[in-house]
Amino acid sequence: MTLPTPGKVVLEGRGLSKVYRMGEVDVHALRGVDIALYEGELMVLLGASGSGKSTLLNILGGLDLPSVGRVRYRDEDLTEADDRTLTEYRRDHVGFVFQFYNLIPSLTARENVGLVTEIAPDPMNPEEALSLVGLEARMDHFPAQLSGGEQQRVAIARAVAKRPDVLMCDEPTGALDAATGRLVLSVLDRVNRELGTTTAVITHNAPIAKMADRVVTLADGRIKSEVRNREKASPEELSW
Ligand SMILES: Nc1ncnc2c1ncn2[C@@H]1O[C@H](COP(=O)(O)OP(=O)(O)OP(=O)(O)O)[C@@H](O)[C@H]1O
Ligand SMILES: [Mg+2]
Repeated sequence: MTLPTPGKVVLEGRGLSKVYRMGEVDVHALRGVDIALYEGELMVLLGASGSGKSTLLNILGGLDLPSVGRVRYRDEDLTEADDRTLTEYRRDHVGFVFQFYNLIPSLTARENVGLVTEIAPDPMNPEEALSLVGLEARMDHFPAQLSGGEQQRVAIARAVAKRPDVLMCDEPTGALDAATGRLVLSVLDRVNRELGTTTAVITHNAPIAKMADRVVTLADGRIKSEVRNREKASPEELSW
């Protein structure tokens, strides 16, 4: 299988530091991180608990600001951006998937996805997004009528229905058993391949890194290593 060669940089963080002030104590969550996301790649961000993975993803996704450093999305410096520009960045260009699915319990799968497609400029329809994640038969089910893996696939459909440029996934399999986790990772892999969505997946499960084009490892707020995989494993082959 040929892998994409490093292409255009979609999103870049330079010299990112983040300090959380907890009363008298400063917590250094990031200590000078340089990172880039390349067009169309699937990047896995590995690291132990507390190494700064979520902090980094939240900053790159415009959910949080760095204490020091800059973030650039294509030609736009997000560190200089006003609130409105940041909101537009998050709303129009970034899809988020979290460990807990955050679906609205009183809305069906279709309606949960529809909430997002209503406010997006060029969305898929909810049916198309739910088919992409293999849930065409479950569109009218409520979250409580779906398994954890199915709920996560609804969350992925909701995130990709607006055709985001970048998809940010923070421990998307964290609450799932391995078999269900593989299924969810296959859906992310499919989105990355079929829609070309630049994708970042956070995990502390090292075997998941085998499905990435590139693996970045964080330790104690710093980048410890960055490796381009010579071969990509298919998510079905992974075990943890
Ligand atoms: N809002 C916050 N206020 C104070 N400290 C925080 C906050 N968010 C994160 N931290 C601290 O920053 C450090 C990095 O946290 P972060 O959540 O980025 O780690 P992580 O790699 O995502 O960990 P995990 O795998 O457990 O999710 C930790 O020491 C954490 O306690
Ligand atoms: Mg985290």
